[in-house]
Amino acid sequence: MRIRKVVFPVGGLGTRFFPITRAIPKEMLGIIDKPLIHYAFEEAIAAGIEQFIFVTRHGKDSIEDYFDFMFSHSEYFDIKMGSVCYVRQNEPKGLGHAVLCAKNLIGDEPFAVMSADDFILHTKSCIGAMIENYDGSNMVATMKVAHSEVSKYGILDVESENGRLIKAKSVDEKPAVEDAKSDYAIVGRYLLSGKIFDVLSELKPGVGGEIQLTDALLKMIPQCGLTGFKFEGKRFDCGSKSGLLAAVLHVASQNEKLKDVIENFYKGEKR
Ligand code: UTP
Repeated sequence: MRIRKVVFPVGGLGTRFFPITRAIPKEMLGIIDKPLIHYAFEEAIAAGIEQFIFVTRHGKDSIEDYFDFMFSHSEYFDIKMGSVCYVRQNEPKGLGHAVLCAKNLIGDEPFAVMSADDFILHTKSCIGAMIENYDGSNMVATMKVAHSEVSKYGILDVESENGRLIKAKSVDEKPAVEDAKSDYAIVGRYLLSGKIFDVLSELKPGVGGEIQLTDALLKMIPQCGLTGFKFEGKRFDCGSKSGLLAAVLHVASQNEKLKDVIENFYKGEKR
């Protein structure tokens, strides 16, 4: 099924990175020479997506400035005029609320959502692989996490598994460790039915007082199902300091000009 549009929710506060995120958006934190949002944008382009919607807010102008530069230099991104829009989220009321802010720019067609702080290194494009397997239900990227970590994530209750696809019978946002139905966590790649906007606009705040996208996915299971896609490749949680550090080290270790720096650093530490 064709997916033409992507939403990049970039309206979060990034409290785990205070104080730097008081002045620099989390999505602009760098992995060597490119910000996180650049990698997510490349992943969307590689998936054949044509329209790019950023849900932004006060203090996030550097994202717009960055892409102004990128779009005027075709060696970075050669995209059609008018294919990028910015819509404001006036208050950070949660990921579900951020997605709802894009309603008028999406209409009722299925669309992608990508959180730039989930940095995924895939042989091609994680969201592209999801699109290849998309059947019209709501679909989320999923991976197994350590059981002790489940309360950081939306967790799938698995009905059946078939290759990379999981059919979920339920989903729970940030369950207590003892209540989690599996270790399959949702990470920040989604393909959503346009019907989700009706559900999101009726939702009451959930965990953390935020409008939770996971709650909308749960409500929609009877009407359109929920599929987990077990993606291949490596994912780094760059919403956390340890995840961002691991991503930087990983990318540097793969770079011919930088890998010696890392090796020498560890040799020096051992001396
Ligand atoms: P997070 O749950 O990581 O929240 O958001 P956060 O505010 O960015 O970071 P912390 O937890 O305070 O450190 C996941 C994704 O949803 C977006 C974020 O920008 C991130 O891409 N988001 C979150 C919004 O766009 N709006 C919101 O109100 C909340």
